[in-house]
Amino acid sequence: MTFINLIEKRKSIRNYQRSKLSSNDLKEIENFLTQFLDGENTLQEDIDIDFALIEDGWEKEDILKGRTGYSGNPILAPHYIALLSESKEGYLLNTSYVLEQLVLKAVEMNIGTCWISVEKDSSDLKRDLGIATSGEIVALIALGNPKTRIPYTKKSATSRIGVEDFVYKDKWGNTVKYEEIENMGIGTALHNIRFAPSWANLQPWKLIIDNDKIILTVGGTKVDNKHLMLDAGIMMLYMEKAFSQAGINAKWNIYKEESKSDFSKYNIPSEYTIIGTLHI
Ligand SMILES: Cc1cc2nc3c(=O)[nH]c(=O)nc-3n(C[C@H](O)[C@H](O)[C@H](O)COP(=O)(O)O)c2cc1C
Repeated sequence: MTFINLIEKRKSIRNYQRSKLSSNDLKEIENFLTQFLDGENTLQEDIDIDFALIEDGWEKEDILKGRTGYSGNPILAPHYIALLSESKEGYLLNTSYVLEQLVLKAVEMNIGTCWISVEKDSSDLKRDLGIATSGEIVALIALGNPKTRIPYTKKSATSRIGVEDFVYKDKWGNTVKYEEIENMGIGTALHNIRFAPSWANLQPWKLIIDNDKIILTVGGTKVDNKHLMLDAGIMMLYMEKAFSQAGINAKWNIYKEESKSDFSKYNIPSEYTIIGTLHI
């Protein structure tokens, strides 16, 4: 399946069948995850990460309650994958860049998934889940067979903002018509990245196109920085993939505080965080 097919089909599943996934499916998922352990297909290969598969998900409800999910309400599922990471600069971006690839792999396998938020201090959760692997549990992904069949419907355009709502040209606030973006040859790619999931579907992204560079920022909502950074890492993945599918080899430069002055010309407001520049 192409990236576009995957993201059109992808949606969060919050009700699962009691049955477990087959051992073949679980093995395929575990094999898929091994690439990331060596730093392959990650944003930063110098950040140590690991995964824990929680096989008996239904038995973990009491442990997850109050500590995971929106307002402490976990999504109940037969399995979970936890991503554990060393807590180091850039680790939240790296986590979501990796975990969303797992979500897309599951879509290809017709397996339901849902991102589950984990509170910032997750050391007790880790202990109670019996996870011995080192690192912080950054997030969980629920895995299982959806209770109702996932119909192949194109994602409703109404659940996402339009391209013109989050893309500026040359500087902050300078809106641009979709036709103009299409004329630049990047209309389809920017249309597709809107399908990126985000915490509470807040879609906190703003982009600035500056010739062959696209600057990604997130913010503007009263959302915890952790969620914003996870949303940003997913958007980095979607931008890279969407441009690649459009035949454009795009590469990220992650923002560094030292280069702050290079960005002053864009007038980015202080409530937005600059994430990086995609060179297209
Ligand atoms: C970082 C992150 C954390 C999320 N946490 C939760 C969660 O705790 N509970 C939940 O039900 N959904 C969670 N979601 C799923 C979003 O609500 C969902 O992706 C968004 O509403 C868009 O819907 P869709 O995935 O069906 O396209 C999370 C998504 C992201 C990206």
